[in-house]
Amino acid sequence: MAAERLFVFCFALIVCATVSLGRPSDPQPVKTYDVDLTQHTSQRWNQVLDDHKELLPGVLDMVRSYIPEELLPIVQQIAVDIENLIPSPFAQEIIGIADYWGLDRGDVILMNILYDVTAFCTSIVAQDNNGTIWHARNLDYDNADLLRNLTVNIHYKQGNETLYSGVTYAGYVGILTGQRPNGFTITIDQRGSEKRRLSPWWENELTAILDKSSSFVSFLVRQTLENAKDFTDAVENLATTVIHATAYIIVGGANKGEGVVITRDRLSALDRYYLDPLQARWYVLETNYDRWTQPPPFDNQRRVVAHREMDKLGTGNINSTTLYNVLSTPPVMNNGTTYTTIMSASQPDVFNTHVRWPPL
Ligand SMILES: *[C@@H]1O[C@H](CO)[C@@H](O)[C@H](O)[C@H]1NC(C)=O
Ligand SMILES: *[C@@H]1O[C@H](CO)[C@@H](O)[C@H](O)[C@H]1NC(C)=O
Ligand SMILES: *[C@@H]1O[C@H](CO)[C@@H](O)[C@H](O)[C@H]1NC(C)=O
Ligand SMILES: *[C@@H]1O[C@H](CO)[C@@H](O)[C@H](O)[C@H]1NC(C)=O
Ligand SMILES: *[C@@H]1O[C@H](CO)[C@@H](O)[C@H](O)[C@H]1NC(C)=O
Repeated sequence: MAAERLFVFCFALIVCATVSLGRPSDPQPVKTYDVDLTQHTSQRWNQVLDDHKELLPGVLDMVRSYIPEELLPIVQQIAVDIENLIPSPFAQEIIGIADYWGLDRGDVILMNILYDVTAFCTSIVAQDNNGTIWHARNLDYDNADLLRNLTVNIHYKQGNETLYSGVTYAGYVGILTGQRPNGFTITIDQRGSEKRRLSPWWENELTAILDKSSSFVSFLVRQTLENAKDFTDAVENLATTVIHATAYIIVGGANKGEGVVITRDRLSALDRYYLDPLQARWYVLETNYDRWTQPPPFDNQRRVVAHREMDKLGTGNINSTTLYNVLSTPPVMNNGTTYTTIMSASQPDVFNTHVRWPPL
């Protein structure tokens, strides 16, 4: 009897220790940094890089497991000519990161391609019955634990002023989730079911860089956050700039009625689906499928459940807490969910991100 009790006790202890060491409780506040854009490109990321250096071996393993080996010479070619092929300040920041971390430039270029829309996600823009616009997103990824640990929230500063904010990864210079205070908010969701670990996808990406004919979507987002003056300007830029790969671009504004899901082909927008509160379209929602198609059976429920939860709430009950709850409902939240962000361009202080550690 005593032995049995001892056994149970030990077993419980081991399980608890494993769980508490391996997976922090859900949710965790994201680490936040200032990046001063008046600082030289070779220095502005140093604090972020210092704090994540121990994750580098894992990042390099991930990167190298994705890129087909026969394409590595093209990456080297890009690395040699990076300042000619990748726009400023992205090329200079990539060089700065490679030098500071002591990495090959090609590896940092690959890291920055890898996150260029290889993420499954849910994004929602909603208008409450005050006319305030809210924007919420989950970012899901298949290398979830590593990405959780690399997630950082950045306030991009010009002196003391936050020009824009973004949720990103240590070592990554683009933005997939961002806010221009009192202007607009942007999220990117992956579009296209092509297997992004296969050769054709990578070849297309690398060729696009060599051609200089198009943008990384995550660089376009950052440039838009930096330069566009309002929602309309941002949407025009995001809908018409030629990009390397297809994507969904979801934009919220600071004024009533300003919300859209842009379905992007490389060259242009196939569809712009706007809020239309007068027609009862008080929210728009995107996972990873064109709105006019049926998601595949294995991933149908994220979209269905997100819609069900939003419809249950109604426009009268939209706030940070209720949107967070929608994004926490399985399977909208799933084992791959790495973070949840809530934003509202007209209330810049709402901007908040939590790293998600769902139980496995
Ligand atoms: C991520 O961080 C957690 C908590 O600090 C740690 O237990 C885990 O090993 C890390 N995982 C990876 C892949 O870095
Ligand atoms: C609606 O707007 C008013 C005025 O700005 C504000 O006081 C109130 O808290 C808002 N209500 C909600 C539910 O956001
Ligand atoms: C920035 O903030 C610091 C500390 O609050 C202040 O001393 C400084 O004058 C500010 N600089 C500018 C340019 O506003
Ligand atoms: C958010 O809305 C819910 C439902 O209307 C309400 O119960 C809750 O108090 C609100 N929370 C905040 C922080 O406004
Ligand atoms: C996570 O994965 C496990 C095992 O596949 C599954 O049982 C569980 O339902 C998943 N959780 C969520 C929230 O999807």
